[in-house]
Amino acid sequence: MKYKKEMPQSDLIIEQLLSCIAGDKDQKAINPVYKTSDTVLYNADCLELMPRFPDNYFDMIFADPPYNLSNNGVTCHAGKMVSVNKGKWDKSNGFESDVEFHERWISECRRILKPGGTIWISGTNHSIYQCGYLLQKLDFHILNDISWFKPNAAPNLACTTFAHSHETILWAKKDRKAKHVFNYEMMKNGIFLEDKMKSPGKQMRSVWSIPTPPPDEKTFGKHPTQKPLSLLRRILLSSTTKGSLILDPFNGGGTTGVAAKMLGEERKYIGIEIEEEYISLTIKRLNKV
Ligand SMILES: C[S@@+](CC[C@H](N)C(=O)[O-])C[C@H]1O[C@@H](n2cnc3c(N)ncnc32)[C@H](O)[C@@H]1O
Repeated sequence: MKYKKEMPQSDLIIEQLLSCIAGDKDQKAINPVYKTSDTVLYNADCLELMPRFPDNYFDMIFADPPYNLSNNGVTCHAGKMVSVNKGKWDKSNGFESDVEFHERWISECRRILKPGGTIWISGTNHSIYQCGYLLQKLDFHILNDISWFKPNAAPNLACTTFAHSHETILWAKKDRKAKHVFNYEMMKNGIFLEDKMKSPGKQMRSVWSIPTPPPDEKTFGKHPTQKPLSLLRRILLSSTTKGSLILDPFNGGGTTGVAAKMLGEERKYIGIEIEEEYISLTIKRLNKV
């Protein structure tokens, strides 16, 4: 092992993990493209990388997988009709193949989560039912399905359906009997100015009203499905504590890592992203924190 004995315990966790991932003489080397004492980024396919992680290691996983909605349709952006296509990574490969993809990464997440560890999965109707079905199939215990309501969602230009104005975020734990982290008091009494539906001092409910990312979260460029920092801040505040090890297998523009770094308290973040341009965007955002 490359790490030193006198390292603090929390640094050891990352160093041990990196040496597992790096590979040995029988495996291709996979090295991080960015590494600090609290944040590590891999420009890789999570299906290739996650099998190298040790069992029962992560405290929390946030996953925002491809929605498989890039089907050449149209949507509204800044009052104009634009293509819904997000990139080749978001194209559907057909129902069976999409389900198989989700089953592969969710199974790995189950193996690498600690028994009391929790997973959050976000999605729209295109993917969330598949992911919810798989969470149940793979014996996760669903804790909540959060409705992230976007008060500033774009109108529906075709006027043939209701305007899509929410995403669903499933929250589940690996082992029903294990104790999981839920910072109840912080959720009840914390300050959430962005949310016009949250009453101060009242229990946090499962409908969260949070606007889409404001312009100052896109100063280094934007990811087509970038999540707002206040959404990830709330998720991390509710389900992680000092020193938690957090994974995002679909890092995108790095919102999870940026929120973890902003919250600090020795939280450690590992992000995996297949597209190099989004790794560059993430590094710029992290360096600004
Ligand atoms: C929905 S976006 C995540 C957005 C992110 N939550 C944010 O706030 O910026 C999904 C991301 O997963 C990446 N991706 C797709 N397939 C992947 C894979 N097999 N391994 C790693 N990343 C992948 C895509 O390139 C895309 O950036």
